Amino acid sequence: MSAVVELKNIEKRFGDVNALEGINITINKNEWVSIMGPSGSGKTTLLNILSLMDNPTDGEYLFNGEDVSGFDETKQLLFRREKIGLIFQQFHLIPYLTALENVMLAQYYHSATDEEDARAALAKVGLSHRLTHRPSQLSGGEQQRLCIARALINDPEVLLADEPTGNLDEKNERVIFELFFKLKAEGKTIISITHNRELGALGDRVVLLHHGRQISHHHHSHHKHHHGKTEGDIQ
Ligand SMILES: Nc1ncnc2c1ncn2[C@@H]1O[C@H](COP(=O)(O)OP(=O)(O)OP(=O)(O)O)[C@@H](O)[C@H]1O
Ligand SMILES: [Mg+2]
Repeated sequence: MSAVVELKNIEKRFGDVNALEGINITINKNEWVSIMGPSGSGKTTLLNILSLMDNPTDGEYLFNGEDVSGFDETKQLLFRREKIGLIFQQFHLIPYLTALENVMLAQYYHSATDEEDARAALAKVGLSHRLTHRPSQLSGGEQQRLCIARALINDPEVLLADEPTGNLDEKNERVIFELFFKLKAEGKTIISITHNRELGALGDRVVLLHHGRQISHHHHSHHKHHHGKTEGDIQ
């Protein structure tokens, strides 16, 4: 197994707040890691560092063996476009654009737009019948799936998701996590933040944060996943 993400002694301070302290995490290709912990424990801070939206105060970040912690802004931007698919808790959809246009806009920032690819990404998340709807005309679950389609459009190696089911009811939660199972089966590496213990347990392991410190690594390699039906916990 090869490591995609290696964090070595990552520290993040905001003034006198130690948001992250001594974080050491290695994530292998095709792993699905859940990041859990109470509010304020540093989860979003960690995700921001992983996506190069923010720089650590100290420590090293290797991506596919390359030290990305010293990247300048241009390289950071390219890294985010090419390597990472970001799924935010707040959707950041453009209200006056249709579902198809929202996905194509993300493509545009990457390279050339290709309507067929955008349609295919929307089909993958089950939104083929909603191409011309604007975000306000979509349900919460549909908006979140649109965000996932947008994150997938540039075929990123790693998907980073901050509370991807935070705003959703149980049924939509299940749809999103089944989608994640599918993406994992296709070879993606997934790092997802969740408050929900049952959902956290669906990944391969949990990284638990507490006051910016990593308190444990739980492996779940003992159980097999069958498209969302894991230990009956989301039924
Ligand atoms: N830009 C900032 N400036 C100052 N302090 C910050 C900043 N961003 C985060 N913090 C602090 O760092 C700590 C970790 O914040 P973070 O947003 O990572 O928590 P979280 O685990 O994502 O919480 P939640 O579950 O509520 O989203 C908090 O104490 C927060 O107040
Ligand atoms: Mg957060």
